[in-house]
Amino acid sequence: MTPVTNPTNEAEELYYRALVRTRVIVELTLGVVKNRFRCIHRFGGELQYTPLRSAKIVSACLLLHNRCVSRSIPDPNNHLPEEDMPIEAHVETALQKKDGDGGDGDGDGGGWSMVCIVHCETSSGVINPIFEVGQLVRRYCPGASYMVDAMSSFGAVEVDMAACGIDFLVSSANKCLEGVPGFAYAICRTSRLLSCRGNCRVLSLDLVEQHVGLEVNGQFRFTPPTHALLAFNVALTRFWHQGGVQGRAHRYKQNNEVLVSGMESLGYRRLVHPPHASYIITAFHFPKHEAFNFTKLYNGLAERGLVIYPGKVTSAECFRVGNIGDLHTHDINTLLQAVKEVMVQMGLPVPLNS
Ligand SMILES: Cc1ncc(COP(=O)(O)O)c(C=O)c1O
Repeated sequence: MTPVTNPTNEAEELYYRALVRTRVIVELTLGVVKNRFRCIHRFGGELQYTPLRSAKIVSACLLLHNRCVSRSIPDPNNHLPEEDMPIEAHVETALQKKDGDGGDGDGDGGGWSMVCIVHCETSSGVINPIFEVGQLVRRYCPGASYMVDAMSSFGAVEVDMAACGIDFLVSSANKCLEGVPGFAYAICRTSRLLSCRGNCRVLSLDLVEQHVGLEVNGQFRFTPPTHALLAFNVALTRFWHQGGVQGRAHRYKQNNEVLVSGMESLGYRRLVHPPHASYIITAFHFPKHEAFNFTKLYNGLAERGLVIYPGKVTSAECFRVGNIGDLHTHDINTLLQAVKEVMVQMGLPVPLNS
Protein backbone atom coordinates (compact mmCIF):
# COMPACT_ATOMS: atom_id res chain seq x y z
CA MET A 1 0.00 0.00 0.00
CA THR A 2 1.33 3.43 -0.92
CA PRO A 3 1.53 5.87 1.99
CA VAL A 4 0.13 9.39 1.56
CA THR A 5 3.03 11.27 3.05
CA ASN A 6 1.34 14.69 3.05
CA PRO A 7 -2.37 14.14 3.80
CA THR A 8 -4.52 17.02 2.58
CA ASN A 9 -7.96 16.00 3.88
CA GLU A 10 -9.47 14.00 6.74
CA ALA A 11 -9.83 10.78 4.76
CA GLU A 12 -6.18 10.87 3.75
CA GLU A 13 -5.19 11.71 7.31
CA LEU A 14 -7.13 8.65 8.64
CA TYR A 15 -5.63 6.44 5.94
CA TYR A 16 -2.11 7.71 6.73
CA ARG A 17 -2.49 7.12 10.50
CA ALA A 18 -3.94 3.62 10.01
CA LEU A 19 -1.13 2.70 7.63
CA VAL A 20 1.60 3.91 9.99
CA ARG A 21 0.02 2.10 12.97
CA THR A 22 -0.32 -1.13 11.00
CA ARG A 23 3.21 -0.92 9.73
CA VAL A 24 4.59 -0.44 13.24
CA ILE A 25 2.66 -3.50 14.42
CA VAL A 26 3.89 -5.58 11.48
CA GLU A 27 7.51 -4.55 12.06
CA LEU A 28 7.36 -5.16 15.80
CA THR A 29 5.79 -8.57 15.19
CA LEU A 30 8.47 -9.50 12.68
CA GLY A 31 11.16 -8.41 15.15
CA VAL A 32 9.69 -10.58 17.92
CA VAL A 33 9.32 -13.62 15.68
CA LYS A 34 12.81 -13.20 14.15
CA ASN A 35 14.19 -13.10 17.67
CA ARG A 36 12.55 -16.38 18.57
CA PHE A 37 13.19 -18.20 15.29
CA ARG A 38 16.69 -17.48 14.06
CA CYS A 39 16.11 -19.33 10.79
CA ILE A 40 14.13 -16.33 9.56
CA HIS A 41 16.67 -13.81 10.85
CA ARG A 42 19.30 -12.52 8.46
CA PHE A 43 22.00 -13.63 10.91
CA GLY A 44 20.53 -17.12 10.97
CA GLY A 45 21.36 -17.57 7.31
CA GLU A 46 18.12 -16.30 5.65
CA LEU A 47 15.49 -18.54 4.07
CA GLN A 48 16.95 -19.90 0.86
CA TYR A 49 13.57 -20.97 -0.56
CA THR A 50 10.95 -19.78 -3.00
CA PRO A 51 8.78 -16.88 -1.77
CA LEU A 52 5.82 -19.26 -1.39
CA ARG A 53 7.72 -21.76 0.75
CA SER A 54 9.34 -18.93 2.77
CA ALA A 55 5.86 -17.51 3.45
CA LYS A 56 4.75 -20.93 4.73
CA ILE A 57 7.77 -21.13 7.05
CA VAL A 58 7.04 -17.64 8.38
CA SER A 59 3.38 -18.63 8.99
CA ALA A 60 4.54 -21.73 10.86
CA CYS A 61 6.84 -19.55 13.00
CA LEU A 62 3.93 -17.23 13.81
CA LEU A 63 1.74 -20.17 14.86
CA LEU A 64 4.55 -21.63 16.98
CA HIS A 65 5.13 -18.21 18.52
CA ASN A 66 1.46 -18.01 19.52
CA ARG A 67 1.69 -21.47 21.02
CA CYS A 68 4.76 -20.38 23.03
CA VAL A 69 2.82 -17.37 24.29
CA SER A 70 -0.15 -19.52 25.33
CA ARG A 71 2.20 -21.89 27.18
CA SER A 72 4.17 -19.07 28.81
CA ILE A 73 7.45 -20.00 27.10
CA PRO A 74 9.46 -16.78 27.32
CA ASP A 75 11.25 -15.05 24.44
CA PRO A 76 14.89 -16.09 24.09
CA ASN A 77 15.88 -12.45 24.48
CA ASN A 78 18.80 -13.21 26.72
CA HIS A 79 20.93 -14.97 24.12
CA LEU A 80 24.41 -13.60 23.83
CA PRO A 81 26.07 -13.37 20.41
CA GLU A 82 28.38 -16.33 19.74
CA GLU A 83 31.45 -14.25 18.94
CA ASP A 84 31.10 -11.76 21.78
CA MET A 85 34.03 -12.19 24.13
CA PRO A 86 34.93 -12.21 26.92
CA ILE A 87 31.53 -13.53 27.89
CA GLU A 88 31.89 -13.26 31.70
CA ALA A 89 31.13 -9.53 31.72
CA HIS A 90 27.91 -10.05 29.71
CA VAL A 91 26.80 -12.86 31.99
CA GLU A 92 27.52 -10.86 35.14
CA THR A 93 25.56 -7.88 33.81
CA ALA A 94 22.64 -10.11 32.80
CA LEU A 95 22.53 -11.90 36.15
CA GLN A 96 22.75 -8.63 38.06
CA LYS A 97 20.12 -6.97 35.88
CA LYS A 98 17.52 -9.62 36.54
CA ASP A 99 18.27 -9.36 40.24
CA GLY A 100 17.94 -5.58 40.03
CA ASP A 101 14.65 -5.95 38.15
CA GLY A 102 13.19 -7.52 41.21
CA GLY A 103 13.50 -11.16 40.22
CA ASP A 104 11.16 -13.51 41.99
CA GLY A 105 12.03 -12.10 45.38
CA ASP A 106 13.01 -15.40 46.90
CA GLY A 107 16.60 -14.29 47.20
CA ASP A 108 18.20 -17.46 45.93
CA GLY A 109 17.59 -17.67 42.19
CA GLY A 110 17.95 -13.94 41.62
CA GLY A 111 14.94 -14.21 39.31
CA TRP A 112 16.63 -16.83 37.15
CA SER A 113 15.61 -20.46 37.24
CA MET A 114 18.33 -21.70 34.91
CA VAL A 115 21.51 -20.43 33.31
CA CYS A 116 22.65 -22.26 30.18
CA ILE A 117 25.90 -21.98 28.32
CA VAL A 118 27.41 -23.69 25.30
CA HIS A 119 30.91 -24.93 26.16
CA CYS A 120 32.39 -25.12 22.66
CA GLU A 121 30.33 -22.88 20.40
CA THR A 122 30.18 -24.94 17.21
CA SER A 123 28.99 -21.94 15.21
CA SER A 124 32.10 -19.83 15.77
CA GLY A 125 34.73 -22.03 17.44
CA VAL A 126 34.66 -20.06 20.72
CA ILE A 127 35.37 -22.04 23.89
CA ASN A 128 33.41 -20.51 26.73
CA PRO A 129 34.68 -20.23 30.33
CA ILE A 130 32.30 -22.63 32.05
CA PHE A 131 34.18 -22.50 35.34
CA GLU A 132 34.07 -18.69 35.61
CA VAL A 133 30.41 -18.54 34.54
CA GLY A 134 29.60 -21.28 37.07
CA GLN A 135 31.14 -19.10 39.80
CA LEU A 136 28.95 -16.18 38.71
CA VAL A 137 25.86 -18.37 38.80
CA ARG A 138 26.66 -19.51 42.34
CA ARG A 139 27.36 -15.92 43.40
CA TYR A 140 24.32 -14.17 41.90
CA CYS A 141 21.71 -16.91 41.74
CA PRO A 142 22.65 -19.90 43.87
CA GLY A 143 19.12 -21.30 43.55
CA ALA A 144 19.28 -21.45 39.77
CA SER A 145 20.34 -24.56 37.87
CA TYR A 146 23.47 -24.37 35.76
CA MET A 147 23.36 -26.26 32.48
CA VAL A 148 26.24 -26.79 30.07
CA ASP A 149 25.83 -27.84 26.45
CA ALA A 150 29.07 -29.77 26.02
CA MET A 151 27.96 -31.28 22.74
CA SER A 152 31.15 -30.59 20.84
CA SER A 153 33.63 -30.57 23.72
CA PHE A 154 32.82 -33.50 26.02
CA GLY A 155 35.57 -36.09 25.86
CA ALA A 156 38.22 -33.74 24.49
CA VAL A 157 38.17 -30.86 27.01
CA GLU A 158 38.49 -31.46 30.75
CA VAL A 159 35.26 -30.69 32.64
CA ASP A 160 35.20 -30.69 36.44
CA MET A 161 31.46 -30.85 37.11
CA ALA A 162 31.80 -30.23 40.86
CA ALA A 163 34.26 -27.33 40.59
CA CYS A 164 32.18 -25.64 37.87
CA GLY A 165 28.97 -26.23 39.86
CA ILE A 166 27.27 -27.87 36.88
CA ASP A 167 23.81 -29.33 37.50
CA PHE A 168 23.15 -30.58 33.98
CA LEU A 169 25.60 -31.40 31.21
CA VAL A 170 24.41 -32.63 27.84
CA SER A 171 26.43 -34.16 25.05
CA SER A 172 26.10 -36.75 22.31
CA ALA A 173 27.73 -39.94 21.14
CA ASN A 174 29.00 -38.67 17.83
CA LYS A 175 31.32 -35.76 18.48
CA CYS A 176 34.53 -35.98 20.53
CA LEU A 177 33.71 -39.48 21.79
CA GLU A 178 33.70 -40.54 18.13
CA GLY A 179 30.63 -42.80 18.25
CA VAL A 180 27.90 -42.71 15.63
CA PRO A 181 24.90 -40.34 15.72
CA GLY A 182 21.74 -41.70 17.27
CA PHE A 183 21.35 -40.50 20.83
CA ALA A 184 22.36 -37.86 23.32
CA TYR A 185 22.93 -38.18 27.05
CA ALA A 186 22.69 -35.93 30.07
CA ILE A 187 24.78 -36.02 33.23
CA CYS A 188 22.63 -34.55 35.97
CA ARG A 189 22.65 -33.70 39.64
CA THR A 190 19.95 -36.20 40.63
CA SER A 191 18.18 -33.95 43.12
CA ARG A 192 17.86 -31.18 40.52
CA LEU A 193 16.68 -33.61 37.89
CA LEU A 194 13.98 -35.06 40.13
CA SER A 195 12.80 -31.57 41.08
CA CYS A 196 11.84 -31.12 37.40
CA ARG A 197 9.31 -33.95 37.45
CA GLY A 198 6.15 -33.01 35.61
CA ASN A 199 7.72 -30.06 33.79
CA CYS A 200 8.42 -31.77 30.48
CA ARG A 201 6.13 -30.61 27.67
CA VAL A 202 6.65 -33.65 25.45
CA LEU A 203 6.06 -37.32 26.15
CA SER A 204 9.07 -39.00 24.59
CA LEU A 205 11.81 -36.58 25.69
CA ASP A 206 10.92 -36.63 29.38
CA LEU A 207 14.34 -37.07 30.97
CA VAL A 208 13.01 -37.46 34.51
CA GLU A 209 10.64 -40.26 33.51
CA GLN A 210 13.43 -41.91 31.53
CA HIS A 211 15.71 -41.79 34.57
CA VAL A 212 13.02 -43.10 36.92
CA GLY A 213 12.13 -45.87 34.45
CA LEU A 214 15.75 -46.97 34.12
CA GLU A 215 16.10 -47.08 37.89
CA VAL A 216 12.99 -49.24 38.23
CA ASN A 217 13.42 -51.80 35.46
CA GLY A 218 16.61 -50.94 33.55
CA GLN A 219 14.58 -50.42 30.36
CA PHE A 220 14.24 -47.57 27.91
CA ARG A 221 10.72 -46.20 27.78
CA PHE A 222 10.68 -46.39 23.99
CA THR A 223 12.64 -48.48 21.47
CA PRO A 224 16.32 -47.66 22.07
CA PRO A 225 18.82 -47.01 19.25
CA THR A 226 20.55 -50.36 19.90
CA HIS A 227 23.05 -50.09 17.03
CA ALA A 228 24.16 -46.61 18.17
CA LEU A 229 24.53 -47.85 21.76
CA LEU A 230 26.67 -50.80 20.66
CA ALA A 231 28.80 -48.48 18.52
CA PHE A 232 29.14 -46.16 21.51
CA ASN A 233 30.45 -49.02 23.62
CA VAL A 234 33.17 -49.65 21.02
CA ALA A 235 33.88 -45.91 20.78
CA LEU A 236 34.35 -45.71 24.56
CA THR A 237 36.80 -48.66 24.52
CA ARG A 238 38.81 -46.90 21.81
CA PHE A 239 38.57 -43.66 23.77
CA TRP A 240 40.19 -45.21 26.86
CA HIS A 241 42.82 -47.00 24.75
CA GLN A 242 43.72 -43.68 23.19
CA GLY A 243 44.40 -41.98 26.53
CA GLY A 244 40.94 -40.69 27.52
CA VAL A 245 40.33 -36.94 27.58
CA GLN A 246 44.04 -36.11 27.61
CA GLY A 247 44.82 -38.35 24.67
CA ARG A 248 42.00 -36.91 22.63
CA ALA A 249 42.83 -33.33 23.58
CA HIS A 250 46.42 -33.92 22.50
CA ARG A 251 45.49 -35.27 19.05
CA TYR A 252 42.84 -32.58 18.41
CA LYS A 253 45.24 -29.83 19.49
CA GLN A 254 47.83 -31.16 17.05
CA ASN A 255 45.24 -31.32 14.27
CA ASN A 256 44.15 -27.80 15.05
CA GLU A 257 47.66 -26.38 15.11
CA VAL A 258 48.42 -27.89 11.70
CA LEU A 259 45.09 -26.64 10.34
CA VAL A 260 45.42 -23.08 11.62
CA SER A 261 49.06 -22.61 10.66
CA GLY A 262 48.43 -24.17 7.23
CA MET A 263 45.38 -21.99 6.53
CA GLU A 264 47.20 -18.89 7.78
CA SER A 265 50.10 -19.62 5.44
CA LEU A 266 47.53 -19.75 2.61
CA GLY A 267 46.42 -16.27 3.70
CA TYR A 268 43.23 -17.08 5.66
CA ARG A 269 42.46 -15.26 8.91
CA ARG A 270 40.82 -16.81 11.97
CA LEU A 271 37.59 -15.34 13.34
CA VAL A 272 38.45 -16.23 16.94
CA HIS A 273 41.88 -16.03 18.55
CA PRO A 274 43.36 -17.65 21.68
CA PRO A 275 42.45 -17.82 24.53
CA HIS A 276 38.85 -17.90 23.25
CA ALA A 277 39.53 -20.23 20.31
CA SER A 278 38.75 -23.93 20.70
CA TYR A 279 40.87 -26.72 19.23
CA ILE A 280 37.69 -28.42 18.03
CA ILE A 281 36.45 -26.22 15.22
CA THR A 282 37.86 -23.08 13.58
CA ALA A 283 36.05 -20.35 11.65
CA PHE A 284 38.01 -18.50 8.93
CA HIS A 285 37.00 -15.17 7.40
CA PHE A 286 36.00 -15.26 3.74
CA PRO A 287 38.94 -13.83 1.78
CA LYS A 288 38.24 -10.34 0.43
CA HIS A 289 38.89 -11.32 -3.18
CA GLU A 290 36.32 -11.24 -5.97
CA ALA A 291 37.30 -14.73 -7.20
CA PHE A 292 36.46 -16.33 -3.83
CA ASN A 293 33.26 -18.31 -3.83
CA PHE A 294 32.44 -20.50 -0.85
CA THR A 295 30.23 -22.90 -2.80
CA LYS A 296 33.09 -23.54 -5.22
CA LEU A 297 35.48 -24.14 -2.33
CA TYR A 298 33.02 -26.49 -0.64
CA ASN A 299 32.26 -28.42 -3.84
CA GLY A 300 35.92 -28.56 -4.89
CA LEU A 301 36.83 -30.11 -1.53
CA ALA A 302 33.85 -32.50 -1.66
CA GLU A 303 34.98 -33.69 -5.11
CA ARG A 304 38.27 -34.65 -3.45
CA GLY A 305 36.45 -36.58 -0.72
CA LEU A 306 36.81 -33.86 1.92
CA VAL A 307 33.83 -32.32 3.65
CA ILE A 308 33.86 -29.11 5.67
CA TYR A 309 30.85 -27.41 7.31
CA PRO A 310 28.45 -26.39 4.55
CA GLY A 311 27.66 -22.91 5.77
CA LYS A 312 28.08 -20.19 8.31
CA VAL A 313 25.86 -19.52 11.29
CA THR A 314 27.50 -16.40 12.67
CA SER A 315 26.89 -12.85 11.48
CA ALA A 316 30.50 -12.64 10.24
CA GLU A 317 31.28 -13.76 6.68
CA CYS A 318 33.25 -16.90 7.41
CA PHE A 319 33.42 -20.65 6.93
CA ARG A 320 34.17 -23.37 9.45
CA VAL A 321 36.48 -26.36 9.53
CA GLY A 322 36.20 -29.02 12.21
CA ASN A 323 39.15 -31.22 13.15
CA ILE A 324 37.56 -33.82 15.45
CA GLY A 325 36.72 -37.44 14.72
CA ASP A 326 39.16 -40.12 13.65
CA LEU A 327 41.38 -37.48 12.04
CA HIS A 328 45.15 -37.18 12.25
CA THR A 329 47.68 -34.62 11.08
CA HIS A 330 48.12 -36.35 7.72
CA ASP A 331 44.36 -35.88 7.09
CA ILE A 332 44.67 -32.18 7.86
CA ASN A 333 47.64 -31.90 5.49
CA THR A 334 45.55 -33.59 2.78
CA LEU A 335 42.84 -30.97 3.38
CA LEU A 336 45.33 -28.10 3.17
CA GLN A 337 46.71 -29.41 -0.13
CA ALA A 338 43.15 -29.67 -1.48
CA VAL A 339 42.28 -26.11 -0.35
CA LYS A 340 45.34 -24.90 -2.25
CA GLU A 341 44.31 -26.76 -5.41
CA VAL A 342 40.75 -25.41 -5.30
CA MET A 343 42.07 -21.87 -4.74
CA VAL A 344 44.13 -22.20 -7.92
CA GLN A 345 41.04 -23.52 -9.75
CA MET A 346 39.04 -20.51 -8.55
CA GLY A 347 41.73 -18.13 -9.79
CA LEU A 348 42.78 -17.00 -6.31
CA PRO A 349 46.38 -16.03 -5.57
CA VAL A 350 48.22 -18.53 -3.31
CA PRO A 351 48.85 -17.28 -0.71
CA LEU A 352 46.06 -14.71 -0.67
CA ASN A 353 47.15 -11.09 -0.60
CA SER A 354 46.39 -9.69 2.83
C1 LIG B 1 27.01 -27.01 20.69
C2 LIG B 1 25.90 -27.85 20.07
N1 LIG B 1 24.74 -28.00 20.73
C3 LIG B 1 23.73 -28.74 20.23
C4 LIG B 1 23.86 -29.37 19.01
C5 LIG B 1 22.71 -30.18 18.48
O1 LIG B 1 23.03 -31.51 18.45
P1 LIG B 1 22.06 -32.56 17.70
O2 LIG B 1 22.10 -32.14 16.27
O3 LIG B 1 22.72 -33.87 17.93
O4 LIG B 1 20.74 -32.42 18.31
C6 LIG B 1 25.04 -29.24 18.28
C7 LIG B 1 25.18 -29.92 16.98
O5 LIG B 1 26.15 -29.81 16.30
C8 LIG B 1 26.08 -28.46 18.83
O6 LIG B 1 27.24 -28.31 18.17
